[in-house]
Amino acid sequence: MKVIHKPYTPTKDFRRGSEELTALHLLNKRFDCRTYLPSMQFFIDSSNEKPIITDFLKSEIVPSLPARKKMLDIGAGKGEITGEVGKSFNKVLMIEPGRKPRMQESTFKRMFSPKYTHIDGYFPLDTPPANDFNLVLGSHVLYYSGQGAWIYFIECARDLLSKGGKTVFIMNDDIGQAGAMNIHFGGETYGMDRFVQYCSCYFNQEIKSYELQITVQALTYKEMMRNAMFYLFNSLRKIKPDELLDYVKTQFLQPDGTYEMRIFERAFVIEK
Ligand SMILES: C[S@@+](CC[C@H](N)C(=O)[O-])C[C@H]1O[C@@H](n2cnc3c(N)ncnc32)[C@H](O)[C@@H]1O
Repeated sequence: MKVIHKPYTPTKDFRRGSEELTALHLLNKRFDCRTYLPSMQFFIDSSNEKPIITDFLKSEIVPSLPARKKMLDIGAGKGEITGEVGKSFNKVLMIEPGRKPRMQESTFKRMFSPKYTHIDGYFPLDTPPANDFNLVLGSHVLYYSGQGAWIYFIECARDLLSKGGKTVFIMNDDIGQAGAMNIHFGGETYGMDRFVQYCSCYFNQEIKSYELQITVQALTYKEMMRNAMFYLFNSLRKIKPDELLDYVKTQFLQPDGTYEMRIFERAFVIEK
């Protein structure tokens, strides 16, 4: 079985939007990385990641589904992607432990629609929901379980699909500027090419895989340093701040004095 790999071209130009967001959100933010969640929010504000993923799902995946009745988002986080992509479905279930999709379910229902439901738990659930989902999404959630469990995780996601449904997983790739930075500082790499190829053999099907190109922008080196630290969060204890600062200043500086980093993310699709 083979993997069909292609770059994904966004349907809109998200750069201008993210530049405005950058200017608005980054001014006056202080350089620190004491906690994960504020750093993640800072990273989200600095990048066009969520709009690009949302656009990819809405333009490439949702139209290709045989039906759009139910969607499941595993590890919905704050629910930015779920809220937008879920508009195409009659019912949407989010599984997200503890933080109650960080945005409260009631807020979510008010902002979007009553069709959103949240389960506070870890996937796979002891009592799985009915297997009638048209789309099961796992965006940046596989890192939380060891690599040895990934296939099991994906298989459980695929089990919940109705016939013809698709499960889509999205992960950081090891290529591009951010991938190179991660490798340079000895971060964990995931070998997405090999893993997607393995999935193709394991599930005995042709797998479509896409390269999503994300841009992170910052006005100053301190802000880009903060984004780089978030990206390298798992290996930060091994990294000397001076070396990272030097790397950020030399690799990501733009001619206009701002900073920009390109991230490649891999999306792959398994059908039932
Ligand atoms: C990096 S965030 C990604 C959020 C969102 N999917 C996105 O792409 O913007 C990953 C989320 O997965 C959640 N998570 C981790 N392991 C999980 C599991 N086994 N089941 C459900 N959620 C999980 C975490 O709590 C976190 O909010």
